[in-house]
Amino acid sequence: MKVDIALKKVVDESYSITIDTIPELTFNKKVAIVTNPKVAGLHLAYLLSKISATDLYIITVPDGEEYKNQQSVDLILESLFNHRFNRKSLLIAFGGGVIGDMTGYVASIYQRGIDFIQIPTTLLSQVDASVGGKTGMNNRFGKNLVGAFHQPQSVYIDPYFLSTLPKREFGAGVAEIVKMAVTFNKEFFEFLEQHDLHNKEVLKEAIKQAVQTKADVVAQDEKEHGLRAALNYGHTFGHVIEKQTAYKKYLHGEAVAIGMAMANKLALKMGLMTQEEVARVEKVLHKYDLETTYSIEDVEEFYETFFLDKKSSDDSITFIIPQGIGGVKITNECDKELVLDVLKEF
Ligand code: NAD
Ligand code: GLY
Repeated sequence: MKVDIALKKVVDESYSITIDTIPELTFNKKVAIVTNPKVAGLHLAYLLSKISATDLYIITVPDGEEYKNQQSVDLILESLFNHRFNRKSLLIAFGGGVIGDMTGYVASIYQRGIDFIQIPTTLLSQVDASVGGKTGMNNRFGKNLVGAFHQPQSVYIDPYFLSTLPKREFGAGVAEIVKMAVTFNKEFFEFLEQHDLHNKEVLKEAIKQAVQTKADVVAQDEKEHGLRAALNYGHTFGHVIEKQTAYKKYLHGEAVAIGMAMANKLALKMGLMTQEEVARVEKVLHKYDLETTYSIEDVEEFYETFFLDKKSSDDSITFIIPQGIGGVKITNECDKELVLDVLKEF
């Protein structure tokens, strides 16, 4: 016997990303703003002056990547149950990528899924993490290993929040901007070469370009069956660097910057980039004090660590390699010796 279940779906999960001063937002429903003490201390009063809702609650979780875990998720869930949130209620993620990923994840599981909005406050989360619906948390096996694709209802990117961002956090966000430009948009990269992101108007334009690039990629490949993996340029190497330095020495974006420099050297060896293009990318990264060197003690050990990445399988590693500037190749077929040669040069 066999029973078929017809589940062919056409769903429209399109949403808008506003890059501007946050507008007045009114919700005729229960709303919870999920944030952390640092962001709340700096910016919650401003956000509250813009939001009205039938009932409005603030849920704070401790600040830091180490708190992007089940305990914080439980804390948020508990609060939602205590306040009797229902399937029509709304969550607002107010913070960096940690808050965004975790709030999105809770929204994806609370009563099998409720709506949420992203209001990102770091540059990294404004240009990358808040867009595209990847949500999740870490556990003892690794980073972002538990999660769901759950798109936000909308994203409000207000560059005003960046005025309080520490310099290194700013640089980490720049690395993700450079990532989008090198892999997908030559003109955008030239814009980055010619302009200074410390200028507010320049920064706003760069945020827009980065978000547009990511939005185009996500629209083509939401669940990362192919093209979206290109957004992991610099990450294959960067994740190893983060792991080797126990997630303490480098911010994620800083490790990605070094990872991009490594991927570029691989591209050079494969004839996909010229020396001049490699130098141009490094020059932009250096403008924001991002390092492009890393001392590797044991290249074999570095190579073996690639296999722990969730993008890799038991016997192949996925490398994202630029093709010149503005193009990208995703491959599982990089010769090990070639990769080791690159690593030896670092
Ligand atoms: P984060 O959220 O930890 O924020 C960095 C620090 O800046 C924190 O201490 C935070 O409290 C503070 N902060 C936030 N806004 C501030 C402001 N306006 N002024 C001063 N300080 C502020 O880190 P992040 O770099 O924003 O995000 C990293 C996380 O994002 C990682 O967990 C990563 O896995 C995730 N991520 C997700 C995606 C995705 O597609 N979902 C993409 C990239 C990264
Ligand atoms: N940050 C990579 C992605 O969203 O796919």
